[in-house]
Amino acid sequence: MTKFSEIKGFAFDLDGVITDTAKFHTQAWHALADQVNVTWTPELQESLKGIDRMGSLEMILKAGNKQDDYTHDEKVALASWKNNHYVELISGLTPDDILPGMADFIKELNDKGYRASVASASKNAPFILDKLGLTDSFVGIVDPATLHAGKPDPEIFVRAAEILNLLPEQVIGLEDSAAGIASINGAGEVSLGIGDTTVLAAANLNFASTAEVTLANIAAKLD
Ligand code: BG6
Ligand code: MG
Repeated sequence: MTKFSEIKGFAFDLDGVITDTAKFHTQAWHALADQVNVTWTPELQESLKGIDRMGSLEMILKAGNKQDDYTHDEKVALASWKNNHYVELISGLTPDDILPGMADFIKELNDKGYRASVASASKNAPFILDKLGLTDSFVGIVDPATLHAGKPDPEIFVRAAEILNLLPEQVIGLEDSAAGIASINGAGEVSLGIGDTTVLAAANLNFASTAEVTLANIAAKLD
């Protein structure tokens, strides 16, 4: 595998990695599932992580075998209902909502000259980064509206390395979802999974929580 000395940049997922907005996505999708009478399960919840808005809606409807019960326009309206609910939930975010250790880690990267970009499926990412006071910490954000395919397709992490002006093998991608780890691996970057090691078994490096993510701990695991 890549040596730590070859790493020059980091591509960050946002929801569940930089801030705990994964719980707000869950809350809003659960409310939507109740509305369309689809049973919410822990498996469905986990499988939605990292998946874009319309893709998530399709997965929920499919779980209840209701994918053919709505027209395209009705599906767009359901997705927009969920997003309005979600945007209300995240409207009060502040820098205090950055996950443990992540503000220090991002500062450490900036101070030491590593480049960082954001590879989030969320169209709300610029708004959230602004609320967290982190916009200037990143070279750029991949615009998910310009992608041909979302996670687990590698495209978003390939684009995140291009934004950094680095080769994929010089980049570590950070993720809390199985779909995201598959995307990083497919892009040829080093994958760093944060959370349940069973769910994130395909990651090159595993950390139980964001609090443990430091350059020293990454170097120790990589070399
Ligand atoms: C991902 C989340 O980061 O963004 C998913 O893990 C979410 O849960 C997706 O569905 C799309 O987000 P948004 O904000 O564009 O609806
Ligand atoms: Mg995530």
